[in-house]
Amino acid sequence: MKLSSKRVFIESAARDFKRTGALVPSSKALAQAMTSELARHYARGASVLEVGAGTGSITEEIVRHLAGGDRLDVCEIDRKFAGVIRNRLKQDPCFRAVRAQVRVINRPVEAFARRPHYDFILSCLPFTNFEPHAVRDIFELYRKLLRPGGICSFYEYILVRKAARLMSGRSAGRRRVGEVGRVVREYIDKYAYRHHVVLLNFPPAMVHHIRFPEG
Ligand SMILES: C[S@@+](CC[C@H](N)C(=O)[O-])C[C@H]1O[C@@H](n2cnc3c(N)ncnc32)[C@H](O)[C@@H]1O
Repeated sequence: MKLSSKRVFIESAARDFKRTGALVPSSKALAQAMTSELARHYARGASVLEVGAGTGSITEEIVRHLAGGDRLDVCEIDRKFAGVIRNRLKQDPCFRAVRAQVRVINRPVEAFARRPHYDFILSCLPFTNFEPHAVRDIFELYRKLLRPGGICSFYEYILVRKAARLMSGRSAGRRRVGEVGRVVREYIDKYAYRHHVVLLNFPPAMVHHIRFPEG
């Protein structure tokens, strides 16, 4: 990743950490763990959604897996980040090769129409910073957006929720973080079938892959 993209990311984190949710972009190791199920279950004509692409560290790994006939929608709420991805589609050789198959959608994912469009969703949203009901709504949105048998991959930073809980001085903040943890845990317990610990990331992360039952 170019230094200028990294700078855009760090500036955005400094401006609005609640929304960005990380100090630096994800590592290659995390990007590989996030795309591992896309690689394992890939079938031609795949339709993929990435949510919260930032400056594209995970997008870069997704595009390596795309073949002719596949489609990738990149959802990013931040205008500057969406601009970085659009530039990479024009200038970055591995992005340029699949340019016609990729759409950059500069909107919050919550605004998506609830229709089963996707075989894979890779979600990079910083759930720890969200309200518990918003996290549940997003998982339920993913359920609606996935085609039968579709897979949702997402990550959480190891121990960060615990640290956030300890550091939230106000008891309302502590309660919110605890409740988010319970919502995420519920979806992991019910639907996750595979996990990866990624130590080579700042901070270290745990990737979960979930599949909702059909019907
Ligand atoms: C933790 S960063 C991940 C960035 C990048 N995928 C990476 O791994 O380096 C989370 C990203 O989610 C975006 N985001 C936050 N809320 C969002 C929403 N409701 N809809 C779409 N994107 C959102 C942020 O702007 C940010 O780029």
